[in-house]
Amino acid sequence: MEIFFEIHKDLPKESPGGDEYTRQAWQLLPPLSQPNILDIGCGPGAQTLELARLTDGHIKAVDNHQPFLDHLQAQATALGLLDQITCLNQSMFALSFPEATFDVLWAEGSIYIIGLVEGLKQWHSLLKPGGYLVLSELVWLQSQPPQAIQTYWAENYPGMRTLEEVLNLFPGCGYDLIGHFTLPEKGWWNYYLPVQARINDLGQRYHNNPEALTMLNNEQREIDMYREYHDWYGYEFVALQKSS
Ligand SMILES: C[S@@+](CC[C@H](N)C(=O)[O-])C[C@H]1O[C@@H](n2cnc3c(N)ncnc32)[C@H](O)[C@@H]1O
Repeated sequence: MEIFFEIHKDLPKESPGGDEYTRQAWQLLPPLSQPNILDIGCGPGAQTLELARLTDGHIKAVDNHQPFLDHLQAQATALGLLDQITCLNQSMFALSFPEATFDVLWAEGSIYIIGLVEGLKQWHSLLKPGGYLVLSELVWLQSQPPQAIQTYWAENYPGMRTLEEVLNLFPGCGYDLIGHFTLPEKGWWNYYLPVQARINDLGQRYHNNPEALTMLNNEQREIDMYREYHDWYGYEFVALQKSS
């Protein structure tokens, strides 16, 4: 785990995406005045900072890895955005806010941790009536992917659904779909290029540490799989409105 965090320490983003895609997702929502936003699994908080620039609202940014929260706190301070952002160390499995607290829940690359359906259900009560949930989720974009990538994701994200399956499950969980888009390849490389640079550095430093090399090889494999099979899967940004 230590090596994992050494690979990921101080990276700008911890999932495929980027400021322009956070903006694009925000624009799927109607204009909101002083929204109360909860950013769940915020990581180092690139999207939290962008949300603060996009709105006149307040964002509670929640993660259970304190170094990510410290990074976000430092960035928010440096950028003069701290009056809009509160960093909180909490688990997404047990969010401690009263019912109907938030206008918007934001979960970029994080709802998979609790599970898509479980997150949709557990977090539902935190939203005010008619509130919004924006998430990004890994999906199959085409049917019958090659065996190698099917096997890879069966091992690494067994719950992965097709885009159609994902889009169809929201009404049953109490949400209406209001918009969605597939993250372009550029958004993936926003994430993978800094990870690749870190793998290259740490590969030299840990060349005689088998445990570290296993972890680095796992990260390298994810990037190599994306390079070869990116037409078959992607990250879908989805904007939902609480319906019931
Ligand atoms: C793939 S990263 C995405 C981070 C960020 N949203 C982004 O897009 O850069 C997932 C995040 O969820 C956090 N996380 C993992 N388990 C968690 C939990 N039980 N409660 C809260 N956050 C958690 C991780 O520390 C990590 O920051």
